[in-house]
Amino acid sequence: MFLENCLIIENKLISDRYFLIKVKANEEMVKKCGAGQFFMLQCKNEIFFLRRPISLHYADKKDNILEFYYEVKGNGTLDIASLRQGETINIQGPLGNGFDTDIKDKNIVIIGGGMGIAPMKLLIEKLNSHNRIFFVAGGRNGEALEILSNFDLDNLTLCLTTDDGSVGEKGNVVDSLKNILVDNKIDLIMTCGPQKMMEAVAKVAFDNNIKCLISLEARMACGIKACVGCSIKTKQGMKKVCYDGPVFDARDIVEYNPDENIGCCQNK
Ligand code: FES
Repeated sequence: MFLENCLIIENKLISDRYFLIKVKANEEMVKKCGAGQFFMLQCKNEIFFLRRPISLHYADKKDNILEFYYEVKGNGTLDIASLRQGETINIQGPLGNGFDTDIKDKNIVIIGGGMGIAPMKLLIEKLNSHNRIFFVAGGRNGEALEILSNFDLDNLTLCLTTDDGSVGEKGNVVDSLKNILVDNKIDLIMTCGPQKMMEAVAKVAFDNNIKCLISLEARMACGIKACVGCSIKTKQGMKKVCYDGPVFDARDIVEYNPDENIGCCQNK
């Protein structure tokens, strides 16, 4: 885990309230990054003393650039959005256990809903050359899917859904998953998104006896297992999302409510 001031290459609005920040990082830090891990980003203004947990969107190992796709949903992330090219930001990471990417010759459905699309760029890159990938991306509307222009979507099956039907199919990612399962034997499902969406995806996975890895969101005060802010109940006892996750096997989760983590801090 590294703690480093990084030069901001770009911090731009993608759409609505969604931003993409790119920073120059040191080579060792970039090398350690895995899909599904996250970083704690420091705000510019010291009144926001808690860092913001942001999932890693992409790690460019050629140019040592890290990308974070984030949503402005409070004063902390608004402060990060005010940072400009040429300024620095202190970042801590990579943190947590991400998705297993040491997988070959499998049929995998990757499902991102809303901001849960963020970790999928790196995940797709890691898996696509050795596996058959179905990528299902869903959002409220077309603006929520604008970030896909930053993805390499070659050589995979892409299914887009929006609530309002403005892009892709009108509906949700669970319908797309069910359609894929009609004609394809799927070995593994990997997903990130809103809690209700992941619950529905996991149910389909259970019903079809398919392993399902889910990336949980939690309010995090420290990000390094030093508080109890992100504790969840699993079949192996209490676990910390920031340290044992954020990626878990869906079968292991007993109880999870991102709005009711014990002792958590509102960290937006
Ligand atoms: Fe403090 Fe996970 S955020 S233990």
